[in-house]
Amino acid sequence: MFYPEEIVEEVRSRTDIVDLIGTYVRLQKKGGSYMGLCPFHNEKSPSFSVHAGRQIYHCFGCGAGGNAFTFVMEYENFTFVEALKYLAERSGVKLPEIEYSAEAKQAADFKSRLLEVNKLAAKFFYVQLKSEQGRPAYEYFKKRGLTDETMVKFGLGYSSKFSDTLYKYLKQQGYEDSFLKESGLVTLDEQRGGRDKFWNRAMFPIMDANNRVIAFGGRVMGEGEPKYLNSPETKVFDKSRNLYGLNYAKHSRKPYMLICEGYMDVISLHQAGFTNAVASLGTALTGLQANLISRYVKEVYLTYDSDGAGTKAALRAIPIMKEAGVSVKVVNMKPYKDPDEFIKNLGAEEYQKRIDNATSSFFFELQVLEQGYNMEDPEQKTKFFHEVAKKLVGFSDEIERSNYEEAVARQYRIDYDMLHKLVNKYGSQMIVVQGQVVSNAQAEGSRKSALAKKEREEDKEGVTKPQKLLLTWLSTDTTKFRRIQNIITPEDFSPGFCRKVAEMVFDQFWQDGKVNPAKIINQFEDKEEQTMAAALFSTEFREEMDAAGQKKAFEDTVRKVKQASIEQRIEQAVETGDMERFQTLLTEKNRYKNQFPIPD
Ligand code: UTP
Ligand code: MN
Repeated sequence: MFYPEEIVEEVRSRTDIVDLIGTYVRLQKKGGSYMGLCPFHNEKSPSFSVHAGRQIYHCFGCGAGGNAFTFVMEYENFTFVEALKYLAERSGVKLPEIEYSAEAKQAADFKSRLLEVNKLAAKFFYVQLKSEQGRPAYEYFKKRGLTDETMVKFGLGYSSKFSDTLYKYLKQQGYEDSFLKESGLVTLDEQRGGRDKFWNRAMFPIMDANNRVIAFGGRVMGEGEPKYLNSPETKVFDKSRNLYGLNYAKHSRKPYMLICEGYMDVISLHQAGFTNAVASLGTALTGLQANLISRYVKEVYLTYDSDGAGTKAALRAIPIMKEAGVSVKVVNMKPYKDPDEFIKNLGAEEYQKRIDNATSSFFFELQVLEQGYNMEDPEQKTKFFHEVAKKLVGFSDEIERSNYEEAVARQYRIDYDMLHKLVNKYGSQMIVVQGQVVSNAQAEGSRKSALAKKEREEDKEGVTKPQKLLLTWLSTDTTKFRRIQNIITPEDFSPGFCRKVAEMVFDQFWQDGKVNPAKIINQFEDKEEQTMAAALFSTEFREEMDAAGQKKAFEDTVRKVKQASIEQRIEQAVETGDMERFQTLLTEKNRYKNQFPIPD
């Protein structure tokens, strides 16, 4: 971190989280917390809580959480430093000038200059579009059904007929050749000098999730090759990590996104009210893009071109999205080529119907598979069903598999029992590891270890829950520290993250006599860790319980934490064969079993 901890903490403590989040989310007071609809997932009843005392937020639905910094990082897609600057400004804290290393400063300067020059170029193209020379491009967009409002929203533009208009303009603005060469906007040639990369094209600026122009696509108006010309990759443009339209789609509040192929598809969809559409910049969808999407939604609808290439692209995208934990449906746009043409011909309402009737990725895969078989021929048809059965084995969840078997039986009019038997036959021959069918002995080993891991995790939930509860309790009511004196220390928390946070909690109490969860969260730079820490302080407990009930609940929690901690040490003693220690621990375990007194 570049900024000293005191400054970070000052900014945080001068920011009231209820106030801050209140500007984004409608909050209602409920006990010690404020509740609202979670801005990070789609929900109908509020499970998003903001705690004024602890200065943290946590969603009981999707698990999002953290302090004020985490919130703006998550909501605005800011880096930590961006979040710090934003909140510093908001709370009137002046940040000190930071001494960067010369190299870091140069790199940062270079990037911000690239963003600056891209923004300038986008404005330039826009002005051209609105000028007399830009008339053909303006007409072109109009002809394609775009309104003026849409052109402004997507910052569409025009690059002039002459081959160095932008270059001259940028030189005039003080940019030097050596820099412009790296911008992707011009090419430099010994003989001819600087020339624009884009000329006489309808321009589409590409923005990142934070609305910064990072590149351009330019389309010929009419026939010509290439149809679209795109900026090369630069220090600010990595095709594989960006999605066209995401800057708007991320605010659409729909629980799914539409993924299409082209710039025009995204624009048409947005104009028709489908503001959750994005495109993968003319290349196959990457894992990085899938991860990016998974931060906003858990479901996507592929609305790729309805030709062979589009189908292939969809088949490739399905496992990539699934890997990122996002489920997939496929929209059928026949007889039209792409969403743009579909909407132009049949309108938004019909398109919505196609969304409603989209095929789940599994059935889409079957549809494609079916095309390889002549279903009129009994032999081929048999082969097809054998392939289907093998695919069904891939569902490791038994209920899910059975549901799909049923659906397949219905759809393809084949007897359920027969299909089920066939699936079982293949199932006993094959081994499935996390949804993938494998069939050798080695896989058996990895399946077992995957199972063991799952068990460990489930088991851990039983252990960590009381620990979380205790941390929440301690951070809310410090008189509780007195009650656990001589019983619980940070060593009683599970090694790893939980213990680290516990150590911080105890440290704070010993030093300041109070616990400040939001400050603890500050100690973690990684957003995931901030969220995990917020979760530790956000266990739900019934605050309305009467005094006796609370007392009992607290004591039970303390006992559970202590017992789990002793269990864990017993395991260690067994592993190391330390029988003496084993005996001591057993005695201790019995003491904590039921009626161990916890001082009032
Ligand atoms: P398409 O060929 O499907 O074109 O390319 P489109 O989006 O329907 O374009 P219009 O409607 O004819 O204007 C899909 C995407 O592939 C990339 C672009 O991102 C385009 O939007 N592409 C296509 C290129 O980068 N270069 C090309 O020459 C063609
Ligand atoms: Mn098109």
